Amino acid sequence: MATHDAADEGEEASARALRESTPGDAPPGPDGVPVIGNTLQFVRDPVAFYARCAAYEDDVVTYRVATSDGVMLKHPTDIEQVLVTDDADYRRASIIRNALGQIADGGLFLMEGEAWGAHRTALQPSFYRDRIETYADMMARFADERAAEWADRDPNAGPIAVSEEMRTLTLEILAKTLLDVDIRGRESAIRDAAAVISDRFDAGSLSALLPLWVPTPANRRCRRAVSRFDDAIADIVAERRATDEAFDDLLSILLAVDPDDGTGESREGGGLSEQQIRDHLFTFLFAGHETTALTLSYAVMLLANDAERQARLHAELDEVLGDGTEGSAADAERPGATDLFELDYLDRVVDEALRLYPPAYTVFREPTRDVELGGYRIPEGSTVSMPQWVVQRDERWYDDPDAFRPERWTDSFREELPDYAYFPFGGGPRHCIGMRFALMEAKLVLATLAARFAFDPVSEPPLDLSMQITLQPQQPIEVGLRTR
Ligand code: HEM
Repeated sequence: MATHDAADEGEEASARALRESTPGDAPPGPDGVPVIGNTLQFVRDPVAFYARCAAYEDDVVTYRVATSDGVMLKHPTDIEQVLVTDDADYRRASIIRNALGQIADGGLFLMEGEAWGAHRTALQPSFYRDRIETYADMMARFADERAAEWADRDPNAGPIAVSEEMRTLTLEILAKTLLDVDIRGRESAIRDAAAVISDRFDAGSLSALLPLWVPTPANRRCRRAVSRFDDAIADIVAERRATDEAFDDLLSILLAVDPDDGTGESREGGGLSEQQIRDHLFTFLFAGHETTALTLSYAVMLLANDAERQARLHAELDEVLGDGTEGSAADAERPGATDLFELDYLDRVVDEALRLYPPAYTVFREPTRDVELGGYRIPEGSTVSMPQWVVQRDERWYDDPDAFRPERWTDSFREELPDYAYFPFGGGPRHCIGMRFALMEAKLVLATLAARFAFDPVSEPPLDLSMQITLQPQQPIEVGLRTR
């Protein structure tokens, strides 16, 4: 079933040889207009623009957006070279630094070099499996309580906007995990900041490409929301420092770690400044909630549109979570972290949703010196884009690439798939630190909701998408709900 058998590998090798036989030439790419290059094409319809770049036979494509020279890499080998092998020759791309630098400069996402290494080492244990598993019960409980609200809806209320529901649920879960704050049903600076910031970074508007100091209305709103968020965080941190009570959240770890003592171990007193704590929390909140919400929303939409595969998931949930009697898992215990080992089809559903609709639809890097990629010389400072959106739908690696087929993820398929033909969480030293957290949350929430409800199709694939900071549906994703 995997498409990358020996014959294909042969073809692939000859395609690469052909490409590498022309070093020195510029890679091909869509024509743009002088000065702004392809900016308008990109802003008007980023998905179509990506499709145009994907259509070139060459695995390296150039374009120009705003003031930067863009290079798109489509081959897993080139992507691995950038993210893993030659990671030291790259840094965060300036389009990312310009966009996020003014709101989370000292967070893990934007840090570089030794400071990044020290903080990553210090924070890593907060994301180890045993630590993450302590959040499992809360995640499933929050999902279960949301499901109970759904069950109480007026049966004539019509479809539910699952994308909105998942966005608030994942934010609530993250606020609880990071700060031990329950923001459910309350006005919250965290919730407001999340909404305004996603608006600000909508790539469908030119303002997303402008720095935050330019006084556009979206920028002003964004700066006000960030400042309210900062006040709220400062209050929480101050209260926490003033109490002896023990907490089991990420903030308590941030207050204890000292990245500069070289061991990455927590120690009494802690070594992070208020600003560093704020920047890390901000980064986790914004890297963590929308991405996980999108994973869930796309998975639910795909299941709603595929009765057979949804039935297969229900059967697995009934078998693993049910009490052994005839019927569904609807009345069963909430799923826990250990149940996930047995929920193999659930695993595949989530992996397939992340393949088709990767919330982080591209990873960017910028070479700090001239480099060679796929046989082409790429100048220092170019914006290298490695789009999961394109690579994970490439028919060289996936049969029927646009189809939702969770069962493709057999062990042998996983083994044969080239590294970096699937990388929803990035790769190399800067891969997503929250990957385990996100996967556990997505599976527990999906298991909890699908055990209680059947989803009926309303929004249908292919969805109209917009490439904001994450891959967003243009309209809210809706499904019908039936209690099981
Ligand atoms: C399905 C959900 C998620 C997806 C698809 C996702 C995707 C990614 C990707 C692709 C990267 C690498 C970016 C790059 O190399 O440029 C990344 C980095 C990162 N992610 Fe996630 N992420 C998810 C959830 C989370 C969660 C839940 C958290 C935290 C609670 C988180 C925190 C981070 C941080 C801090 C980084 C930067 C790591 C570093 O540079 O050392 N992410 N994520």
